[in-house]
Amino acid sequence: MTEPVVLVDWRSDTTAIVTINRPRALNALNPEVIEKLAEALAGCQREKIRHVVVTGSGDKAFVAGADISVMKNMRRGEARHFARRGQRVLHLLSRYPGVTIAAVNGFALGGGMELAMACDLIVASSNARFGQPEVGLGVIPGFGGTQRLVRLVGEQRARELILTGRRFKTDEAVRLGIVLEMVEPGEALDAALGLAERIGANGPKAVHYAKEAIRLATELDLEIGLQEEAEYFGLCFDTVDQTEGMAAFLEKRKAEFKGR
Ligand code: CAA
Repeated sequence: MTEPVVLVDWRSDTTAIVTINRPRALNALNPEVIEKLAEALAGCQREKIRHVVVTGSGDKAFVAGADISVMKNMRRGEARHFARRGQRVLHLLSRYPGVTIAAVNGFALGGGMELAMACDLIVASSNARFGQPEVGLGVIPGFGGTQRLVRLVGEQRARELILTGRRFKTDEAVRLGIVLEMVEPGEALDAALGLAERIGANGPKAVHYAKEAIRLATELDLEIGLQEEAEYFGLCFDTVDQTEGMAAFLEKRKAEFKGR
């Protein structure tokens, strides 16, 4: 029996680990992986999972990019379709209603770095390697790299990284603001789960609204972004969690959030 190319480990009622599972191809993203990732995210959403940790199988790679053997013989239309489909699935990931965390345990190259950047937060082991090496293959990043990397590091650095295609280490990725936290080899998954737990102590609705408002900061003009922030702030006051969170503070006890 062939192994599923995407595994979902339901860690708890609130947290799931989604693992890209093609270790022999360094977890390269082929059309099947992309479809199964979409299904996994839909499953997480159905189960009301609040924290999705995305990682790669094995100790060598997170994801070493889109599958080069699949792309090799593509023509223009097919390649455009492949890029659009990959972009849409990574868009679903970036808009996931809960928090998504990439646990980068090795190579995160091309589509792999794009997958990580579509997550809300990235933790990576010190032996991970990042890069957008596509120009070295005669193509460009196609799963959002030209857009998300600019938003993360600014135009100059994004140009340098994409136009040279150079690989870089986790400490540089942290300095550039791509990666939140660097951990020892083998510890990325636990670090991501720890982060999920810390976030999970807070009001789930508030976490969701905060994530949405933060996203708007890179998409909207400041004045409109501030209006949206006030809208989300107001929405919080329709929740049971706001009543509970503030009551718990005043009563000097731990809040028991319901996610409503
Ligand atoms: N696609 C398909 N197969 C891949 C792959 C990829 N992106 N990356 C690695 N593999 C396969 C290799 O072909 C090899 O398979 P075989 O054992 O059958 O030969 C296996 O994984 C192991 O890889 P290596 O032998 O190359 O391992 P290594 O340790 O020598 O090198 C590496 C590791 C530096 C990550 C190297 O594999 C590599 O450079 N991979 C390609 C990285 C890349 O260019 N990614 C960008 C792809 S383009 C893209 O992603 C476009 C987009 O934005 C949508």
